[in-house]
Amino acid sequence: MTRPAPSHVATGDLFRLEERTVLISGGAGAVGTTVGKAILESGGDVVFVDIVAQPNTDTWKAIEEAARLNNTKAIYQQLDVQDEDSITSAFLAINPQLRHSIRGLVSCAAISGESDACDYPIATFRKILDVNITGTFLIARAVAKEMHRANVPGSIVLIASISGHISNHGINTSAYNASKAAVHQLARSLAAEWGHPQNTFPGSTQSATNSNPSTESRGVYPPIRVNAISPGHIDTPLSEEARKRGLTVEWARQNMLGRISVAEEYRAPVLFLLGEGSSYMTGADLRVDGGHCAW
Ligand SMILES: NC(=O)c1ccc[n+]([C@@H]2O[C@H](COP(=O)([O-])OP(=O)(O)OC[C@H]3O[C@@H](n4cnc5c(N)ncnc54)[C@H](O)[C@@H]3O)[C@@H](O)[C@H]2O)c1
Repeated sequence: MTRPAPSHVATGDLFRLEERTVLISGGAGAVGTTVGKAILESGGDVVFVDIVAQPNTDTWKAIEEAARLNNTKAIYQQLDVQDEDSITSAFLAINPQLRHSIRGLVSCAAISGESDACDYPIATFRKILDVNITGTFLIARAVAKEMHRANVPGSIVLIASISGHISNHGINTSAYNASKAAVHQLARSLAAEWGHPQNTFPGSTQSATNSNPSTESRGVYPPIRVNAISPGHIDTPLSEEARKRGLTVEWARQNMLGRISVAEEYRAPVLFLLGEGSSYMTGADLRVDGGHCAW
């Protein structure tokens, strides 16, 4: 189903998110809570999901206050993006609380870990890939299925990283870097599948990795745009250890603006990709990195 160009949308509304719900995975984290509050302030309801049982009390108070002031709604739900059953039960709990269909996802849930490659414990390497790439896939798929079920168009924003483009100087994070490069390619692959399904050649062939071949045409649904954002280094509580080792000073020197970023600087990029302002963008990666990768 091709969606007409939204040329009627007033310029002032290009970043507005009324009459929709946006789900944020990693919704108790630094970027998740900051962009979630911005979405509430831009007219959208937000479901924050995260592996922690509950978010920080003061942060959640500020989120609820933003929702109150903007007549929007904030919901918190615990889930583990690695675990399909946990996602399924979370949606059963979330759906009855929604005022509007889910039409957006900001996938923030991720973990990192530092180790020299030759000493990398393989269980940790696998865990990082499982959360960052399989977990991103599972939550994106669950949200896309909800959008298909509700027959609504949507926008999915996968938070990747400059670490998917370049290797970080001064810190050895091979698993994290590889996982974030995979997030870029996942965004392109899902964008291709969900943007305009009738263009997909019908059927799929049986093989050792496809026990579910099909000759039938796929369902046709309103388009879902899928893009990535690649943040540069962000000053979050997690940067504290890096700061102690002098790494944050080093990272600031590695970009054209001479400082690392703060979570608030990802509000506008996320709102842009979720809203009609980016109606002709899909399969892209928006680098927000102070020029780090351009140097
Ligand atoms: N902080 C940086 O410098 C930086 C730079 C580039 C990209 N990023 C990316 O931005 C995103 C947000 O990072 P942040 O700085 O807010 O980190 P953060 O650690 O504050 O937030 C990540 C959240 O994901 C949650 N999480 C971890 N495993 C989970 C699981 N299995 N299921 C559900 N939730 C889970 C954590 O509990 C946490 O709340 C991440 O994807 C990160 O890779 C961060």
